[in-house]
Amino acid sequence: MMKLGLIGYPIGHSLSPWIHNQLLESQNLEGSYQLYEIEPDKFEENIKSLKKENLDGFNVTVPYKEQIIPFLDEMDQAAEFLGAVNTVKVEDGKWVGYNTDGIGYFSSVTSRFENTLKDTSKVLILGSGGAARGIYHAFLQKGVRQVDIANRTVQKAEQIIKELNGEEFSEPLTIQEAGDRISEYEVVIQTTSVGMSPNENQSIIDFDDIKENALFSDIVYRPMNTKFLKRADELGAFLHYGHEMLLHQAIYAFKIWTGREPEASELIEKFENVLKGE
Ligand code: ATR
Repeated sequence: MMKLGLIGYPIGHSLSPWIHNQLLESQNLEGSYQLYEIEPDKFEENIKSLKKENLDGFNVTVPYKEQIIPFLDEMDQAAEFLGAVNTVKVEDGKWVGYNTDGIGYFSSVTSRFENTLKDTSKVLILGSGGAARGIYHAFLQKGVRQVDIANRTVQKAEQIIKELNGEEFSEPLTIQEAGDRISEYEVVIQTTSVGMSPNENQSIIDFDDIKENALFSDIVYRPMNTKFLKRADELGAFLHYGHEMLLHQAIYAFKIWTGREPEASELIEKFENVLKGE
């Protein structure tokens, strides 16, 4: 009987229970995935009582991905490097922290676009928040060698590149510069919250000319079809959606907890129907 869960605040609308219950079922594993909504001023006391719950593992979401770190016994390399944890595995009572954001994203793209994303692909990341950091880290780790970052506050893009030692491969850009040069990129990844419901009429960037066979990806999944992706679609791009990333990250966490790796393709359609029904 696997005891799993999620900590964060607020998490009432989280899709994680649905996903993990499906994953458990797909593997014929008995278990539960509970929401632990912890109010910010009660974080420490709640984490101490969570230690006594004998969970097998749990996910960590906003605003606790950094705050959880002092309560961990160990951390994997990506989590250490990114200074953020989204998955905890309990091993012999020890809490071990992982970060599956970047690697989940990477596997989500490569599972469907193996031929589009190559080591030599020129990649553009829009945004410089936690998601951008995770994705940038995973791409460099996986050997993709030309990854530029554009951000409204260009200093933040510079900082990520510097911290992850990417100066040799990456250029920091303003959003305007990125818009002007967008046709240079084989892969363009939107990592900010711009375009998320209820601001569905917003897009972080305007563009008219894209590279042939380019792949455009948005991590926003509410709505599934963002303004950014709709524009890319009009210009003939391949599209990669935020909910695909969400599912792959969950599968990575599930693999860390159970050692099993369910197939995303078997669940994706069902998941899309859940999102469309919201
Ligand atoms: P996280 O990825 O950590 O969850 P987020 O709040 O979703 O963070 O997104 C932060 C990113 O979105 C930043 O790159 C931020 O740009 P700044 O660094 O300039 O603040 C970007 N962002 C948020 N709102 C934006 C907007 N209206 N226009 C342009 N960029 C925006």
